[in-house]
Amino acid sequence: MSPFAITETVLRDAQQSLMATRMATSDFKDILETMDKAGYRSVECWGGATFDACLRYLHEDPWERLRAIRAHMPHTKLQMLLRGQNLLGYHHYSDDTVRRFTAASVENGVDIVRIFDALNDLRNIRTAVEACLSAGGEAQGTVCYTLSPIHDQAMYVALGKEIQAMGCQSLCIKDMAGIMSPRECYDLVSALKDAVDLPVYVHTHATTGLAYMTYLKAAEAGAAGIDCATSCFSGGTSQPSTASMVYALGQMGFDCGVDPAVLKQVDDFFVPVQKKFAENGVFDPYVLSTKTDALVYQVPGGMLSNLVSQLKAQNAIDKLDQVLAEIPKVRKDLGYPPLVTPLSQMVGVQATVNVLLGERYKSIGKEIQAYIRGEYGTAPGPIDPKLQRRVLGDQSPIRGRYAEGLAPEFPEAQAKLGGDARSDLDVLSYIAFPQQAEQFFTDRAMKEALVASYTIREVE
Ligand code: CO
Repeated sequence: MSPFAITETVLRDAQQSLMATRMATSDFKDILETMDKAGYRSVECWGGATFDACLRYLHEDPWERLRAIRAHMPHTKLQMLLRGQNLLGYHHYSDDTVRRFTAASVENGVDIVRIFDALNDLRNIRTAVEACLSAGGEAQGTVCYTLSPIHDQAMYVALGKEIQAMGCQSLCIKDMAGIMSPRECYDLVSALKDAVDLPVYVHTHATTGLAYMTYLKAAEAGAAGIDCATSCFSGGTSQPSTASMVYALGQMGFDCGVDPAVLKQVDDFFVPVQKKFAENGVFDPYVLSTKTDALVYQVPGGMLSNLVSQLKAQNAIDKLDQVLAEIPKVRKDLGYPPLVTPLSQMVGVQATVNVLLGERYKSIGKEIQAYIRGEYGTAPGPIDPKLQRRVLGDQSPIRGRYAEGLAPEFPEAQAKLGGDARSDLDVLSYIAFPQQAEQFFTDRAMKEALVASYTIREVE
């Protein structure tokens, strides 16, 4: 039997892709000790949209969540997803912020930092990789997988070599949209194994129904492991089921080192959680059905569930098909960026605006303009010249690394917050999401004042 690693994603990608990351720490805290006994290589539990969702919707301190998971899961590696220079947000932060934030993530409990850049412009992951390595974490360099006339295997292999040269200890092929076919996966993993001396992990989504087959071929091609989700949070825009993959792979000679009895306990715990979010409408069963259209649209899971909720909020859900058809056109105009955060949101919003206003690029989003100026890195392919001219006029886009020109953010933020920040982590939360963090600090202080007043009354 060959050893094969499983990463469980229920606490991050599964809930992000199925229900917009609305799971509170109280929803899963009681199962962490059991999960710790399952035998996963790692549990992906932080990063991605969890940080924003904690502050914005759940009134939780994301750092406290991380420490709580660490405390209740001492034996399993904790994994996070980091958007390179974008950290967990939607724009590029300064290098000092990226260094501090990455180091703080490792210091507060993260073992493996999976780092990607939405454009596969690896200049944008270097600072985070270096900070992760100096803090003693495992830096997992990531290649975002997409299909386009300009993306081919040679391009991905070149990226893999660059990731190895950067000092990353492992490599991830990240297929956000679940569009990587079993054949493509087999060929790509094989090519990377030939060219690069790093363990290769494969991440995909079950959106198009290919994922189970793709994972099997990943194993056969010599991948080191895959990402799965507990059964009741698996399928659709989420990952394939952990228990099913472990069962099938075991028969094929791959030892995942995972205890099926514990997987069952974990899943039993999450069934009522899933049910609660389904009943209150947060978990929309729409995201669970297989959508082969995604092979055309290449819309990742989280993006699809966001689009559905945004269009519903605007009473325009009947425009979904039109928006889905507009997305690949916008993508082409922008030089085929992979659809992953923040590009997925930016392209999604621009496509929606193009459809809802009834005229393409009548209004161009601020972020799309920044993208065209080169502030997110180099576009994989050429940007539509007409669109580029409309945004840039006679100016040329930035060629260097955008963050090079950003002044340090930490000292100013620290001075501005004064006593509101109780730690450097508060300052980092504020830099990452200023409005949400300020609101959180205010709420926290109010809650504490309330608790204090109750205590006094009790003493009386
Ligand atoms: Co994902």
